[in-house]
Amino acid sequence: MKKIIGFILLFLFFTSCSSDGTDMISIENSEVTLIIPSGFPELNAFVSQNKPTKYGVELGEKLFSEKRFSADNTISCSTCHIQANSFADHNPQAIGIEGRVGLRNTPSLQNLAFLKFYNWDGSKLHLENQPLVPIITHEEMDSSILEVIGKIKEDPTYKDLFKKAFGDGNVTPDRIYKSIAQFEYTLISANSKYDRVKRNEASFTDDEMKGYQIFKDKCASCHSGELFTDQSFRNVGFPINTNTNEAGRARVTGLATDYMSFRVPTLRNIEFTAPYGSFGQFADLKSVLDYFDNGVLDSGNLDPTIKTNGRRIPLTDAEKADLIVFMKTLNDEVFLGN
Ligand code: HEC
Ligand code: HEC
Repeated sequence: MKKIIGFILLFLFFTSCSSDGTDMISIENSEVTLIIPSGFPELNAFVSQNKPTKYGVELGEKLFSEKRFSADNTISCSTCHIQANSFADHNPQAIGIEGRVGLRNTPSLQNLAFLKFYNWDGSKLHLENQPLVPIITHEEMDSSILEVIGKIKEDPTYKDLFKKAFGDGNVTPDRIYKSIAQFEYTLISANSKYDRVKRNEASFTDDEMKGYQIFKDKCASCHSGELFTDQSFRNVGFPINTNTNEAGRARVTGLATDYMSFRVPTLRNIEFTAPYGSFGQFADLKSVLDYFDNGVLDSGNLDPTIKTNGRRIPLTDAEKADLIVFMKTLNDEVFLGN
């Protein structure tokens, strides 16, 4: 069926070109097949409405590194979302134009096609309307989509890519959002040592195996499945961001029971995304584990599994070391571009 429609479109294309005499070439823009790694959940429902294509992804990737997205042409998406850091960075809180400090830590961008909620508080449900947020945020790019379009629409490279991706050279907000989302859908990390062990292509060392066992006992109830997150929002009693704009998930729902709850973060490639926590409270993995072990902050909506356990996840030094060794098996060198 798709082939038939393609044929009809192509036919119309050629007829219209012969009638107005303009020079047109047919461009093959094939769909990019997203290979779903074994054990992963199904794709986010929105992917089927914006299927990645060869040139859509290429355009999205180029836009992702476009500094003209920011008011003073200094910051692109990839300034904060750096591939070698699993598309996060090393700042506690994001730093935008003119050194303005944002509210939260930059999350890694990986396996986004499988997530149902985006951002620490789940304020976005699909990627197609997410890129506007950093573009207009004062502490990030402080621009507007019309300003961005004004800057790039006469650029011949973009004209060519928009044409290849969408059929004509018009630069529209919708196409910008769609192509960036298409690029983001292709960011799949599933080739770590952990994955190879699951596929029987490698085996854990003794320490990694010990770490994995502890992880399954004490962490996997929240950092569950192949994404290492159950995609729920929880208050685990981390030190609180005193910025009055912060309320965690409650910023979205307005519910007191969601106050300072955050989406359980993935732990894939976690070694490369320090510091940790929603505003970078923890310098390294050991500090996160020490904090869980020493006891977290109490509150009315502290996660019951931690609350009923004396507000702690008790861990010996040896267990912490093994857990860290295990977490490093989630490094995916190919994904990081190494
Ligand atoms: C100044 C640094 C900065 C820039 C520039 C930036 N981001 Fe982000 N990004 C962040 C922060 C911080 C968050 C978390 C926001 C929140 O939770 O409220 C985020 C969240 C995201 C998310 C959600 C990730 C998840 O795990 O849910 C996506 C997707 C994303 N950004 C894509 C982009 C794109 C595309 C651009 C460029 C148009 C961009 N970002 C520009 C810092 C930045
Ligand atoms: C009750 C659910 C729950 C359990 C159990 C749990 N975590 Fe988490 N974890 C979370 C949530 C939620 C966050 C984010 C909290 C925040 O930033 O306020 C988090 C954050 C983290 C972070 C920081 C990630 C980042 O990108 O900033 C690491 C590392 C981590 N957890 C590791 C572990 C390990 C290892 C264990 C087991 C010892 C564990 N967690 C147990 C829910 C949990």
